[in-house]
Amino acid sequence: MERRKKAVMRKRTRGESTASVPQFTNSPTMIVMVGLPARGKTYISKKLTRYLNWIGVPTKVFNVGQYRRDAVQTYKNYEFFRPDNKDAMKIRKACALAALKDVCCYFTQDHGQVAQVKLSSPDYINCDKEEAVADFLKRIDCYKITYVPLDDEKDRHLSYIKIFNVGSRYLVNQVQDHIQSRIVYYLMNIHVTPRTIYLCRHGESELNLVGRIGGDSGLSTQGIKFAAALGSYIRGQCIPDLKIWTSHMRRTIQTAEAIGVPYEQWKALNEIDAGVCEELTYEEIQDHFQEEFALRDQDKYRYRYPKGESYEDLVQRLEPVIMELERQENVLVICHQAVMRCLLAYFLDKSADELPYLKCPLHTVLKLTPVAYGCKVESIFLNVEAVNTHRERPTNVDVDRDPEDALLTVPEHN
Ligand code: F6P
Repeated sequence: MERRKKAVMRKRTRGESTASVPQFTNSPTMIVMVGLPARGKTYISKKLTRYLNWIGVPTKVFNVGQYRRDAVQTYKNYEFFRPDNKDAMKIRKACALAALKDVCCYFTQDHGQVAQVKLSSPDYINCDKEEAVADFLKRIDCYKITYVPLDDEKDRHLSYIKIFNVGSRYLVNQVQDHIQSRIVYYLMNIHVTPRTIYLCRHGESELNLVGRIGGDSGLSTQGIKFAAALGSYIRGQCIPDLKIWTSHMRRTIQTAEAIGVPYEQWKALNEIDAGVCEELTYEEIQDHFQEEFALRDQDKYRYRYPKGESYEDLVQRLEPVIMELERQENVLVICHQAVMRCLLAYFLDKSADELPYLKCPLHTVLKLTPVAYGCKVESIFLNVEAVNTHRERPTNVDVDRDPEDALLTVPEHN
């Protein structure tokens, strides 16, 4: 009992957020997206929300268009948006107020840090395409009657970023805090040029074969075969101006070498530092650090290895990689299990709870293509067998559990 208490206390200290972003509980940020319809407000809101949540800043979108759709149910035509339609105007104002009320609740009750209120959105599901376009254009005309853009002079006291022509020009005014400057920096780096991001792990390593985590071993025989297969696959894809990135670790460098084209090495892409557990098997960790092993299972995202890192630390370390990926076009990232989980969670909008359990098997390339408001994923196994390194969370995560319970989900190895 005494032992369990100690463990819980330690977990609390460990559980404190190590996010590098200051948490302003008293002054949350509200971003209001304004602009005529079809200017990319939904796209930017969703993307920015995904980024902020990933770096550890709880963020939510409140779409006023959705409130209106819930209130009116069936959309007839653009006439609803005419400024002289008094009944409709009443409904629209009520919806805007309802959204604002929910934003306040989000800040106070749910401890949200950033809210984004979107002021309009198209809604033409199951409609004739041409009629929908015609109606939508008339609807834009209705908005134009009353729409007033931000004024450089009159609005000089406001904090805002004005984006012209899908990011060909920006006007940034009165950036007031850390979060705002991170948001501005992010928005200035994203683009909408179609491209593909390929994510994969290094070929199977000597340490993978024997079930040891971390270390800096070279590739196994199967790993070398995978590197060759990856080379053929990438050449077969004929990807224009493909950039290849690796970590500083031997196994990723050896994998990239087989492709036979220049690549860039990023220290930030190195595998999670398992500290005192580096080069141990999961069985040895259970043997020597039973309590640590259970604490990790209790909160794998926040758990930090003694003298090592947590997944939360890794996300912060990978933030510059994500920013650069946003700036680039076609990129192949050859990385590691924990690193690939973090990158994948960003692109697929996965929560901190799901992130450390995302499946990133060896010898499998994930092809990510941006679509509408998210990312399409294709998983390509390159037909070279490899060991499984994925350990599921066991049901029993108690610090006093039996070793069999702790080791129940450890994958097989030599
Ligand atoms: O086992 C391979 C490996 O890349 C280790 O180097 C690393 O510690 C581990 O995977 C990360 O996976 P998990 O967080 O599930 O232990």
